[in-house]
Amino acid sequence: MSLNQNRDSFGSKFGIIAAAAGSAVGLGNIWKFPYITGQNGGGAFLIIYLICVLMLGIPVMISEFSIGRRGQRNVFGSFKTLAPGTPWYFVGIMGVVAAFVILSFYSAVAGWTLEYMVRSVTMGFSNQDTTQLGAAFNEFLKHPFRPIIWQLLFMVFTALIVAGGIKNGIERYNKFLMPLLVLFLVLLCIRSISLPGASKGLAFLFYPDFSKVTIKTLLFAMGQAFFSLSLGMGTLITYASYFRKSDDLGRTAVNVSLADTIVAILAGVVIFPAVFSFNIEPTAGPSLVFITLPEIFSQLPLGNLLELVFFVLLAVAALTSTVSVLEVVVAYFSEELKISRRKATLLATISISFLGVLASLSFGPLSGITLLGKSIFDMLDFFASNILLPLGGLLIVVFVGWFLKKEDIADEISNSGTLKVRYLPIYRFIIRFIAPVAIAAIFIYSVFYGSLG
Ligand code: PFF
Repeated sequence: MSLNQNRDSFGSKFGIIAAAAGSAVGLGNIWKFPYITGQNGGGAFLIIYLICVLMLGIPVMISEFSIGRRGQRNVFGSFKTLAPGTPWYFVGIMGVVAAFVILSFYSAVAGWTLEYMVRSVTMGFSNQDTTQLGAAFNEFLKHPFRPIIWQLLFMVFTALIVAGGIKNGIERYNKFLMPLLVLFLVLLCIRSISLPGASKGLAFLFYPDFSKVTIKTLLFAMGQAFFSLSLGMGTLITYASYFRKSDDLGRTAVNVSLADTIVAILAGVVIFPAVFSFNIEPTAGPSLVFITLPEIFSQLPLGNLLELVFFVLLAVAALTSTVSVLEVVVAYFSEELKISRRKATLLATISISFLGVLASLSFGPLSGITLLGKSIFDMLDFFASNILLPLGGLLIVVFVGWFLKKEDIADEISNSGTLKVRYLPIYRFIIRFIAPVAIAAIFIYSVFYGSLG
């Protein structure tokens, strides 16, 4: 299939890896992964997570890359191109809806990182204990407009990058921001493992205690792998539609998954030694990053500076992810409504921000509105992470494994025979049999037993 000459595309291998890894590495790695690992037994969870990335994440990622690069359009358009006259385009619509929903609550948390960046400069947290820091965090969340201002500002940053296009916007910023992220992460790791008692934290993260493993652990690990690798909603389908014909899809998927996993582990190496060194329970939950860490920073020399570095790191990680999610909607609007990228970006940003404001307000003025005991924020998170992503992932592997022609997939993955892909039979087996069963298990579990985190 020939590539569309007029379409924007990535310009370099490094740019592609930086952008796709930028999407994958996000709040999921630094905010969610450590607390989910903490709550699920540490090292044993890590091992199961790694198996999920290898057995499920990489094959699903290769499938998404194949659909996008062969489809050459946004997520909806790619399904239409590859399966004309069938209802498969519905998976694309689900992807656009998921992008809308994820961005609305994700941008709220991303906005909090900006508040904490500023706080680390203006006031620090010196001499405050957990109770005071917890109260300050709750007060901030309940504030009628502070979180919203930060959230909207974050959406503006995201929109400015996306409006620049692929090569001159998304690729350019990722190539600069991702190395910065790695640098900051390594700095914080060194500081954390040099704390007294750090080894207990490392033992918690790396020593597997399988007595803590239940079927639930397995399902949590799969859900987290999906979210963390940005799978199931067409983000990577959209990005792959800008890949070049010579790019190696399998190798890119391995590199991106490896980068994402290493960052998640390093985030654990930043957090657990610090938490153990200060005798705090590692199972603190979502507040680990916004309450526990500031407390630790407040007791360290140069703590404010470390805190600034940490929240800049978190903001950068979030930004390269929000960019990829917004691109799903922008590509869809501009190609399907035939409007310019700028107009599409404006339309997508404004409409998503409306939903986003509701998500933010659900911690304060709208906290009374609940459905099935969940606030608006929790409902949006649940609907996207636990319903749309697993269902999208399931349909994607069924589409590639059972609907597309075997030869077409082989052609796409091998770049029309120019690459040797010895893994093709294993990939095909996983995509047809293992992945659908495993993903169906997550899906059924998450719908019936609630939040997968
Ligand atoms: N992978 C991102 C993270 O770990 O924070 C979140 C995410 C981005 C999920 C893009 C889904 C997506 F399509």
